[in-house]
This record gives sequence, C-alpha cells and structure tokens, in this order.
Amino acid sequence: MNRIFSGIQPTGNLHLGNYLGAVRNWVRLQNDFECLFCVVDLHAITVWQDPAVLKTHTREVAAAVLAAGVDPKKNILFVQSQNPDHAQLAWIFNCVARMGWLNRMTQFKEKAGKNRENVSVGLFAYPNLMSADILVYKATHVPVGEDQKQHLELARDTAQKFNSDYGREVFPLPEPVIMGAATRIMSLRDGTKKMSKSDESDYSRINMTDDADAIALKLRKAKTDPLPLPDSLDGLAGRPEAANLLDVWAALSDGTRQAALDRFAGRTFSEFKKELTELAVSVLGPIGSEMQRYLADPTELDGILKAGATAARALSAPVLAEVEEVVGFLRA
Ligand code: TYM
Repeated sequence: MNRIFSGIQPTGNLHLGNYLGAVRNWVRLQNDFECLFCVVDLHAITVWQDPAVLKTHTREVAAAVLAAGVDPKKNILFVQSQNPDHAQLAWIFNCVARMGWLNRMTQFKEKAGKNRENVSVGLFAYPNLMSADILVYKATHVPVGEDQKQHLELARDTAQKFNSDYGREVFPLPEPVIMGAATRIMSLRDGTKKMSKSDESDYSRINMTDDADAIALKLRKAKTDPLPLPDSLDGLAGRPEAANLLDVWAALSDGTRQAALDRFAGRTFSEFKKELTELAVSVLGPIGSEMQRYLADPTELDGILKAGATAARALSAPVLAEVEEVVGFLRA
C-alpha cells in the first residue's frame, strides 16, 4: 500500500514555487492515497528563527495548505514538533548515515556557504531528520519540487543501510514524486536562481498572501529581455526568465510550456505579463482569502493540527517501537 509524506518549512510565507512545486500536487494526490502533510518547524530552527515569528509562520503555512485545498478529514496535517517520534528516529539515523553522504548535500553547501564552521550542527544533520520524517511512517512516496531530489536519495540510502546493517527489511525505499509543469520555479529577479523564502528581495517571489496589486506589481517588475516571446522551445535557449514565466503560465493553466508558447509566440512581455497577472490572481486570490479566514481565529486551525498530531503519532508509534526493538533498545 502506498503512503505519502511531504513537508514544508515555516521559515516564511508560502510562495508560488512551494504552491506549484508541492502543495498543489498534495491536493491532487489526496484522493487516491493515504497522505501525511507536515509543517516542519524542527527543520526551520536549523537557522535562527525569532520565536514569535516562528509561531506565526507555522500557522500561516498550515492555513495556506488548508486554503489550497488539502482536506484535513481525508489527510493528516500536523506540526512536526508535536510528534516527538521524528526526532527520536532522526537520532538513530544520525548513527546510520555517513559524514561523507551529508558532506555532498548541495543544499547544505549553499546554505552554509563560506561559513561552514559557524552554522548549526542541525543544519548539517537536516537531511537525517527529513529521512526520519518520511520513514517513521514507512511512507513510500514523497511529492516534492526538484530541489529536494538529493535529500530523497539520501533517505533511500539511509533506509537501505539500516535494513542491511540490522539484517531486517524494516524500511521501504521512498520514491520522490516530482510532477507538473513547475518543478523548479525561478526567482522573478534572476531566472538562474530558485524562487525561495529566504531571498532578501520580496520582488523575487509571489507570496500566497500577496493581493492582486502586489502580484501585478511584481510581475510588471519581473526581469525579462527585450525580445518578443519565441515560437519554439529552441527559441528559449539562453532566456531563463522567459522560460520561467512561461512555466508559471503552464502550471497555473494546467498546460505545458509548448501550449504556453503556442499562445504567446510573437507577443511582447508586457502583453504576456498582463494575462499572466490575471491568471495568477484568479488562482491565488481565493486561496489568500480562505487563508485569512483560518488566521482570523486560529482556534479551528490549532484544533486541526492537534488532531493531526495525534493521528500521526498513532501511525509512527508502532514503527518506532519496531525500530527500537531491532536496534536493541530495552523497551519501557
Ligand atoms: P521547503 O520548505 O523549502 O519547500 C517546500 C516544498 O516546496 C518545493 N519548492 C519548490 N518547488 C518548485 N520551485 C521552487 N522554487 C520551490 N521552492 C520550494 C520544495 O521542493 C518542497 O517540496 N526539506 C524540505 C522540507 C521537508 C520535507 C520533509 C519534504 C522536511 N521533511 C520530508 C518532504 C519530505 C524543504 O525545505 O522544503
């Protein structure tokens, strides 16, 4: 039986990349699979988070996931720190995964930069916690954007090493599910950089909370080039900003890059951006207002998350008990 797990960090507002690369796919998978979706606050604190802001972002991200259409009656939506089983299994994985494996993680290299000696130990061990998130439920499929592929490979390596070290087939090897026309949305200011919550320029991303005016302004200011849109995929070579905006169009309209090209070939960016703004507002507007409804009185939201954590723990507890038995811990 397939079980799906995915997570999202509450390090800022959800942006269009998170929505198109991940959350929208969660909404599509929820009808066919058993799904767990998690706001990963333990991951967030691997870099400094102001405590009050972390709480706000945790609720905002959960509200955005619900507003995007994840149904808490069909799925489990919860906050990572409310199920301590993740951290317990992560420690065990710290003792399974190898330093060399983690040293190769490009996300760590990017985030640590030249400051390697001074980042938290948690930032280095981050992928082991991610493996634990998935494997503490024996999840088989993980819907994510392109940037998480390497972490998923590490989760598979860790599952495999655990199984072979202990000579027991405890864990499945989880598969990434990377779907849709927008698996890697780029910054609106630089088509070679990923759209990210941590980019200091808010003009680099469209946030799920942006209103119609903000979306229009950001798209108007989005970097482009002076040429009209090309009529073939080859014509996008060396034009990363054009390719990115066409992918955003494709994903928002549920089409392909080619279909977007067919529609906009020969047109100017300013015409294209006007239509793109209308489309983005029509998709994101209702999500933003539903999100505000959840946030206006967080009682309902907190209740959903609490029930989610209880349901999650009911699934992880027997897996953790099995792992602890296999490892040789005396059980209380
Ligand atoms: P995070 O919080 O950075 O991103 C959440 C999801 O959004 C996707 N994503 C993007 N997709 C397309 N274009 C972009 N520009 C873009 N930016 C982000 C990410 O691929 C991700 O699917 N380590 C994870 C969180 C995590 C997790 C897990 C995911 C923790 N444990 C277990 C899956 C399973 C992260 O930092 O995602």
